Amino acid sequence: MVKNTMQKNIKKNIFNFTIIYGSTRKNRVGIRFVYYLANQIKLKGHKAIIVDPLIAKLPMLNQRFVEYKKSKVPENIKKVQKALNRSSAFIVVSAEYNHMPPPALINIFNYYYAEFNRKPSCVCTYSSGDFAGIRVQSPLRAMLAQLGCPPIKFGMFQPRVSNFFNKEGAPSNQKDAEARFNVFFDELLWYTKKLNS
Ligand SMILES: Cc1cc2nc3c(=O)[nH]c(=O)nc-3n(C[C@H](O)[C@H](O)[C@H](O)COP(=O)(O)O)c2cc1C
Repeated sequence: MVKNTMQKNIKKNIFNFTIIYGSTRKNRVGIRFVYYLANQIKLKGHKAIIVDPLIAKLPMLNQRFVEYKKSKVPENIKKVQKALNRSSAFIVVSAEYNHMPPPALINIFNYYYAEFNRKPSCVCTYSSGDFAGIRVQSPLRAMLAQLGCPPIKFGMFQPRVSNFFNKEGAPSNQKDAEARFNVFFDELLWYTKKLNS
């Protein structure tokens, strides 16, 4: 049933974009960027799914999804697996924590594997300061390549994230945000169509 709906949507060029976010901090601000991206994806007529570690609540890895007996997979681990499995492409949204991605982000990836295979990805980074979290591009790109989930060359990079987006994800400069969104999203969509045909 879900597979049929997905196939029908793909025929209509409607894709599932999953945004994977890594912050578990109580006062996190990167979630604003996530909301912005999800809203834009929906405005383009696609589906946006958010994998949020504060909602998914995956414990630090003990067993990968495939290592569980089918009847014993905890609901939260199963739910994320279903979302990833139904995805046509992934957008990873990450800050730098001491020049590295947040641990909860890496933890989500380590639970799964086949779900990412031969689907395109994109790395979007941000920071509270001026550098837009750009240093986590390299480790995240290496990991996505290892997951068989090739990262595209573009992304959206957001310095001073809490000044730029309000709590609902509305940008202070819509024209600027949209121009930067369109550059990477058009490219990601091109790969998404090719790899999901
Ligand atoms: C543990 C930790 C380490 C950080 N390290 C960096 C860093 O290496 N580079 C940087 O630009 N900002 C760094 N910051 C500042 C983050 O850019 C800022 O806190 C951002 O809001 C984190 O994203 P979040 O609010 O979604 O968790 C760090 C923040 C934390 C909490």
